[in-house]
Amino acid sequence: MAGRAETRILQGKEVAEHVYSQLGSTTEKLKSKETVPGLAAVLVGENPASEIYVRNKTRRFKNLGLYSETHRYPADVNQDHLVDKIHRLNEDPKIHGILVQLPLPDQLDSQKILYEVSPEKDVDGFHPENLGRLAVGEPRFIPCTPKGILEILRYYEIATEGKHVVIVGRSKIVGRPMSLLLSLKRKRGNATTTLCHSRTQNIGHFTRQADIIVAAAGAPGMITGDMISPGVIIIDVGMNRIADDSEKGYHLSGDVDASSVEGIAAALTPVPGGVGPMTIAMLVANTVQAALRLEIP
Ligand code: GUN
Repeated sequence: MAGRAETRILQGKEVAEHVYSQLGSTTEKLKSKETVPGLAAVLVGENPASEIYVRNKTRRFKNLGLYSETHRYPADVNQDHLVDKIHRLNEDPKIHGILVQLPLPDQLDSQKILYEVSPEKDVDGFHPENLGRLAVGEPRFIPCTPKGILEILRYYEIATEGKHVVIVGRSKIVGRPMSLLLSLKRKRGNATTTLCHSRTQNIGHFTRQADIIVAAAGAPGMITGDMISPGVIIIDVGMNRIADDSEKGYHLSGDVDASSVEGIAAALTPVPGGVGPMTIAMLVANTVQAALRLEIP
């Protein structure tokens, strides 16, 4: 369209491949010491999205020649039984990273369960000790999606220093750690951060002031062209399943209405193929990091 700049598509898939190639020498070093980085995934209930996420994560480990195992439980699993399993994984020398796929069924106390994962094996970065370390600027494991977003920004040389980043969504998995990370006094930080959420009045008032928007509310298409200013960079974290009559029965939609921001935003991550592949790449990176710390102190 005349007078409108093209919106650059930030290819998370490409950044993820770059991360895997960079991790190669570290995993080879570990393997030469007879250590294969190992992940244990714990999957409770039958949430179809969680099933796919865990399958994609463990498949990636296998493709990279790393170790992974999945422990499945019915939705009505006894909480003590689950905690007991986590304690055994904490002690298992072939496991360097433990992932409890969220959300857990309502009858389980997610926070209590996440406390039981050893902070040394908490490759999701959800243990309060690791989130606390992040808050004081001494991160150990950074949650995978926020960490992956920083890698996308780094790869495409998008500076955050002095920029206004507006994050939409305050989840423990993305929004909250993202706001902590970007406000840290460090290179891929030093941003002014605004954290909008479901009780924010007039989200557009904030997003229109943003240099960078991280859309992580889980609301399909909620960020529209009228809510942004020209030149903004948009990271779309949404992975919303929209039912359709395709063979799969659904398609994925982001939190951004991609067609309405096209030509206004300077750059946008696609859904799928943007942030999603980075979450998995960062899970691999965190597990390799855990193996290094545990095996070669
Ligand atoms: N559910 C949605 N995203 C994530 C994630 O990054 N880790 C875990 N454990 N569960 C999730």
